Amino acid sequence: MSDKYQAFTQSSIGKLLVKNLGLPQPTKLERYTAGDPLVKGTVLTGGRGRLADDLAGLLDQLGAASTTARTDGEKYKALVFDATGITSLKQLVTLQEFFTPVLRSLETCPRVIVIGTPPELLKGSERAAQRALEGFTRSLGKEIGRGGTVQLVYVAEGYEDSLLSTLGFLLSPKSAYVSGQVVRIGAHGEEKATALGDWTRPLAGKVAFVTGASRGIGEEIARVLHRDGATVVGLDVPQAADDLQRVMKEIGGDWLTLDITAKDAPQRIAAHLKEKHGGVDVVVHNAGVTMDKKLANQTPERFGKVLEINVEAPERITAELLAQKVVNPNGRIVGVASIAGIAGNVGQTSYAASKAGVIGLVDSLAEELEDGITINAVAPGFIITQMTAAVPFATREVGQRLNAMSQGGLPVDVAETIAWYASPASTGVNGNVVRVCGQMMLGA
Ligand SMILES: NC(=O)c1ccc[n+]([C@@H]2O[C@H](COP(=O)([O-])OP(=O)(O)OC[C@H]3O[C@@H](n4cnc5c(N)ncnc54)[C@H](O)[C@@H]3O)[C@@H](O)[C@H]2O)c1
Repeated sequence: MSDKYQAFTQSSIGKLLVKNLGLPQPTKLERYTAGDPLVKGTVLTGGRGRLADDLAGLLDQLGAASTTARTDGEKYKALVFDATGITSLKQLVTLQEFFTPVLRSLETCPRVIVIGTPPELLKGSERAAQRALEGFTRSLGKEIGRGGTVQLVYVAEGYEDSLLSTLGFLLSPKSAYVSGQVVRIGAHGEEKATALGDWTRPLAGKVAFVTGASRGIGEEIARVLHRDGATVVGLDVPQAADDLQRVMKEIGGDWLTLDITAKDAPQRIAAHLKEKHGGVDVVVHNAGVTMDKKLANQTPERFGKVLEINVEAPERITAELLAQKVVNPNGRIVGVASIAGIAGNVGQTSYAASKAGVIGLVDSLAEELEDGITINAVAPGFIITQMTAAVPFATREVGQRLNAMSQGGLPVDVAETIAWYASPASTGVNGNVVRVCGQMMLGA
């Protein structure tokens, strides 16, 4: 399930054809390997706002070297701009003044982060100016090239210390396929984050439950959460028992085989997590299916089944785990939505409805959860798995190229995003939907 086009563009004949025909030329994205530093290079910081005094200290805690002084001839791995001090539309020009001179001095796969204040917490011109940051960052994301990513992080006043896990994720190769995203921290008045501690094993001593864990994205989520220190309990349908057991044995995890749509599934899952593990810290609703058909050809059985697996089961399971207090304080719930749930897609009325429903669940629960428990979702774009291998060749080829990185993502890109949500230091990150789509040209 590799990207044959990308491999071809890196061959000598491929390079020649790409150059002469003006074909898309995907950059080989840097990805994180255990033992690597979070940031391989210098971070240049700029802007003036609430974070002016904190930024260097925060970056230092992540082991990242930073400077506020640009030197001619120097290359930078990342740029972080504190835009929280922008209170009028006129001041937006400070973005151009900081970024333009340095954009040609970036290393491959650079990272750009702009930090602002959630506009919904502001009024008048200040609100308009902070909202403008979204258009700026999303456009820069489409311009930056060479595997670069650009994000906007809105941090509510008083939550500056809660930025750490988010900066660590967005500055590192862990966010290889995440770009053009807007993250909100502390926007719901969440509890303050716990300290980051050992960022290489933030989930040590924690229990993570992952559905659909026998293969594809779910398998990778299980592996990454295990790498971060968690004991993983994987679930899949009985037909996938052999693969599930193999994966879970490899990572020293536990498993449960059942269909999440079974009537008693929520109770069985709750009992298993409570009795065998004393509760759960991270719940990832990854299991999902597509049964694509244009609506004119759809049947109630197929339409209903997709909704049942992708959104009704996660809702019922979450409700049961919360009602029985199986989710520990500072716990994490993560939904797996899809770009289709945001932009819609031909043949996917049921799938897109189910995935938009997942986003609705996140919106609703983010406002209600207590004890530092958060809920967020990822919305993957084109991720290379068995699910997308079933997509017809031409559609698959186009689907893979229609993003700012001209390539499909890997299951690990989704898994790393979930691991960031799962970190105990991500308490302020609640109610977010982050697309893992290489900044797809379709949709928001
Ligand atoms: N691959 C992509 O490009 C992509 C894009 C957007 C969203 N997603 C979402 O990511 C998730 C994982 O996708 P994937 O590509 O790894 O798919 P996949 O088909 O490879 O894996 C899905 C897993 O869910 C399990 N599952 C399905 N129905 C179940 C049920 N009723 N009970 C228990 N387990 C069940 C399957 O057995 C399988 O192991 C899904 O929710 C999918 O909708 C994938």
